[in-house]
Amino acid sequence: MSKIVTLDETIEVQRPLYEVFAYVSEFSRIEEWDPAVARGIKLTPGVPAVGSEYRIDMNAGFSLHYRMLEFEKNSRMLMTVNSRLFTAREEILFEKVGKRTRVRYIANFDFPAPLAAFSRLYPAAMDRVGKSAMAGLKESLEDNFETPHESKLLATADRLIFPGIWRFTKLGYRESRRRWNAVSAYQGDRHALITGATSGLGLAAARQLAELGARLTVVARSKSKARKLVADLKAQTGNDRVVFEIADLSLMSEVHALCDRLLAAGEPIDMLINNAGALFNPRQQTAEGFENSFALLLLSPYILTERLHPLLQKAESPRIVNVLSGGMYSQKIKVNDLQSQRGSYSGSVAYARAKRGLMILTEEWAEIWGDSGIVVNAMHPGWADTPGVETALPGFYRVTKRLLRTPEEGADTAVWLAASTEAARVSGKFWLDREQHPSHLSGRTQETADERHQLLKTLEELRESTIAKKWKRHRKTSA
Ligand SMILES: NC(=O)c1ccc[n+]([C@@H]2O[C@H](COP(=O)([O-])OP(=O)(O)OC[C@H]3O[C@@H](n4cnc5c(N)ncnc54)[C@H](OP(=O)(O)O)[C@@H]3O)[C@@H](O)[C@H]2O)c1
Repeated sequence: MSKIVTLDETIEVQRPLYEVFAYVSEFSRIEEWDPAVARGIKLTPGVPAVGSEYRIDMNAGFSLHYRMLEFEKNSRMLMTVNSRLFTAREEILFEKVGKRTRVRYIANFDFPAPLAAFSRLYPAAMDRVGKSAMAGLKESLEDNFETPHESKLLATADRLIFPGIWRFTKLGYRESRRRWNAVSAYQGDRHALITGATSGLGLAAARQLAELGARLTVVARSKSKARKLVADLKAQTGNDRVVFEIADLSLMSEVHALCDRLLAAGEPIDMLINNAGALFNPRQQTAEGFENSFALLLLSPYILTERLHPLLQKAESPRIVNVLSGGMYSQKIKVNDLQSQRGSYSGSVAYARAKRGLMILTEEWAEIWGDSGIVVNAMHPGWADTPGVETALPGFYRVTKRLLRTPEEGADTAVWLAASTEAARVSGKFWLDREQHPSHLSGRTQETADERHQLLKTLEELRESTIAKKWKRHRKTSA
């Protein structure tokens, strides 16, 4: 004989109803708040609605299949649950109570005969499961997590080759992930600008931010790719507030034109993710005469960020996230050879030096813009399986393929830095897997104050001279 077990738990949190509903109704996020859940996977595209389906993998080794039966925005959701152990109907009710929100969770589990005996013998076990899930949800919604501090242990491990490199793989991601907190901060009133969103990490970050409900502007150099990207993001996430801007970011004429358009539109930017990148071998110059790595990886994000400062300042909790690379650990900035003109050229070295330059800018911007509330951080995605890595480093890709993270895993820290409440409290740091890491592993790569000054001066001069310049190529294309 089967047995019906009912759980009925209620929590209250100091958050507006619409924020609570936006967070809880995307049910795959249960992985952030229910300690019994290992993974929440959304099986159907679009925003949560009647018919949405989820697979919830439990730590205990079995999976639950959820299907949304009824869905009333800001009020109620009813789901059926199927698994090999039991079936259930789960109802979540939302109610405004003054400035607080009450969430009531009612579940009716139907255990088949053999397990019915277990549930009869251990009713308290079921009760505990329900209570710990709701306690987890309350903690997630209260969103009062401590910002991770710099750790001496991590910094020491980074200096040892094997532990340092192991962190870059998917194993490092999985190990760190166990310590993460929920990201329940409401993104529906925030605007993100992401470069390089047509592929790899930028695409994953754009998808994650769209799922969180942010309004997105994606910057791409190809109109056809941009159109497809926007259509795909809208279809997959159900977020239709996604637009594109076209700019080849290795051309300063196009970076300035992009800034002009964004400044004219005047929309505040809450999250600027400088992600576009590539590794160039052999040495190449843009049509404007800049070495490619320097142009795309350093001068371009410098000009974009500097010029968009007024729009960042207009936002409530502005964040800048610079996507760097662990490769920068191997290089010092060469202020007298920013464009790799001296000696033999290596694409990896030019790439690492440009990333090092953007790390210096991260620290400088954090310092000078700290008072205006703009938070600037840099991150290393680890080694992620993206088209960029496969094309630029085929040998490395072949050897490490099985250890590479997914683009979603690589992009996670960028999204966390841009969106989470706790990441707004620290600026000018370098992150991997939501943990702070040193920006140098050895004094050998440390620049002097004079070198910093010279780097900033050179970039500033180039920003000004490229504004004024009438590029031949640009004139031709716009004629
Ligand atoms: N994947 C990793 O393991 C890894 C590790 C460390 C750091 N990173 C960094 O992560 C970032 C993303 O890399 P990824 O691996 O995701 O590479 P990816 O798959 O090649 O994506 C690069 C993105 O940048 C865009 N882009 C390249 N050149 C551009 C230009 N001139 N103008 C405008 N957009 C341009 C690409 O656009 P198109 O589609 O038009 O080419 C694409 O959207 C890069 O900054 C990279 O240095 C990656």
